[in-house]
Amino acid sequence: MEISTASGSAYSRPKHRPAQTPVNWATQRSRTFKECGTPLARGALTRSARLRASRETERLLLRPPLSADLDPYIEIHEDPEVRQHLLIPATSAGRLGAWRTLALLAGHWQLRGYGQWTVIEKATHDVIGRVGLWNPEGWPGLEVGWVVRRSRWSNGFATEAAREAVRFAFEDVGATHLISMIDPGNPRSIRVAEKIGETFERTLTVEGRTVHVYGIEKAVI
Ligand SMILES: CC(C)(COP(=O)(O)OP(=O)(O)OC[C@H]1O[C@@H](n2cnc3c(N)ncnc32)[C@H](O)[C@@H]1OP(=O)(O)O)[C@@H](O)C(=O)NCCC(=O)NCCS
Repeated sequence: MEISTASGSAYSRPKHRPAQTPVNWATQRSRTFKECGTPLARGALTRSARLRASRETERLLLRPPLSADLDPYIEIHEDPEVRQHLLIPATSAGRLGAWRTLALLAGHWQLRGYGQWTVIEKATHDVIGRVGLWNPEGWPGLEVGWVVRRSRWSNGFATEAAREAVRFAFEDVGATHLISMIDPGNPRSIRVAEKIGETFERTLTVEGRTVHVYGIEKAVI
């Protein structure tokens, strides 16, 4: 992946690097997930690791991706309004491409100990998106990102999940700085960044696309 700054200079190591080993995971009751019919034990992470990595907010359950998420992920990502702003490769090559995307997201949890959660709406038990942390090799920093199913936009779901991701990053992962890389033509995403306390930091070119980097320091919250 090629990353350059607005001035064209080569990208250098980010100022803040999160701890690579998550500590002090909060405990999580499995009953709530069972009540919602959400499988926890399947997939690459062990059941206990999945429980430690999962979170609950007022309206949402947040857990690492499972193979069972393939169909909802395809539904969410194949919407042109959703895909147009995505930096993480979406489902461009049918089910196999979707599987690769899912494997990328699940593998991030294995390799980093944190990643993006599958977002489940408690009221319906539907998978309505993916929100959370993203920091593959060479990424300009620890990113908090969000994708929500088109039919659920403007209900505050991205913000609710992203606030939990910010807490998770600062309290459990050990991060001191978070970024979100956003297409400047994506006002909804910019609004989510602002609502979680991020402010504009700089412009970057990532894989040929100009993005605005919003960020937040741990001290701010
Ligand atoms: C960006 C995205 C995740 C937002 O999800 P969401 O659940 O609708 O977000 P929220 O409801 O928490 O917040 C959206 C905010 O944008 C505002 N908004 C909606 N349309 C807007 C527009 N055209 N211009 C400016 N703000 C807008 C909403 O009013 C809301 O702000 P408010 O709470 O102050 O009223 C969703 O639109 C999405 O998945 N987009 C496609 C994927 C994407 O762009 N991901 C981000 C990549 S950086």
